[in-house]
Parts: sequence; structure tokens; C-alpha cells
Amino acid sequence: MKFLVINGPNLNMLGIREPAIYGSNTYDDLIDKIKNHCEKKNIETVFYQSNHEGDLVDAIQKAYFDKIDAIIINPGAYTHTSIALLDALKAVGIPAAEVHISDVDSREDFRQISYIRLYCRFTISGEGFDGYCMAADRLYDFLKVTG
Ligand code: DQA
Repeated sequence: MKFLVINGPNLNMLGIREPAIYGSNTYDDLIDKIKNHCEKKNIETVFYQSNHEGDLVDAIQKAYFDKIDAIIINPGAYTHTSIALLDALKAVGIPAAEVHISDVDSREDFRQISYIRLYCRFTISGEGFDGYCMAADRLYDFLKVTG
């Protein structure tokens, strides 16, 4: 199985950015953690981060041609604004999970809307970096069942 892990704007600033909310570990630490976790299950991982909405759309579209089995996506602030990301996920039809490092449900009102949630199979929020690994496990189990 091959999973694509997409991170949106400002997630390249992990470790520097609001450590009280997002922790002190970096984006590279996040990649290491997910990669190590997935390797144990023989899941190949591909990573993509961008601060630009259109580039994130391109990455989702590319996943179709690269025969990606599942997408784990944390679109950062684009979660709350982007219909284009929702449409891209619908266009490719690849099983996807929404992940947030912080507990968005208990934060500001403007973080309560998620457009991609309308497509994603499930959302994991507030579990820190572990949330990405939990999402990988659930997508793996789902794909095992559906073949
Ligand atoms: C985030 C939550 C978003 O509201 C915020 O804009 C982010 C990060 C998270 O991982 O907790 O950039 O997606």
C-alpha cells in the first residue's frame, strides 16, 4: 500500500509555530514518525507540504496518476476555507482521512467549519503527531477489508 501524507500552510513551521498548541517537534520529526510507523505495516509513504492552495490541489490530482491508495491530509487553515480541496478529493475518489494536530473542535468558531470533512472517511483531531499514525492504521484496516 502507498499512502500520501499532505500538510498545508504553516505546518512546515512546526517546532517554531505556537509551540503551546502544536508542540516543539519539527515537520521533519513528523515525517520520521509517520514513516517509521507505516514501515512496520509495510505501507510506503510519500510526503507533500505546501503553503499554496493550488499546489495542494495539484498534489491531490497527482495522487490519482501515481496510484496512491489513501490520503492523509491536514490542510491547516485551508480546512476552514477551501472548497477547491474538497472538490479535488472528490475528483480523485481516493480514500482519505482528515487530521489536525490541535483539537480544532475546542478552538475558535472559525475553525469549526471543515469543507474536506464532507469527503473524508473520518477526522482525527487533538492527538498531536500521533493522529497521523492513527489515521494510517484506520485507513490500512479499511483498505484490508475492502481489498
Ligand atoms: C491545524 C488546525 C487549523 O485550524 C490551523 O489553521 C492549522 C493547523 C492543526 O493541525 O491543528 O494550521 O490544522
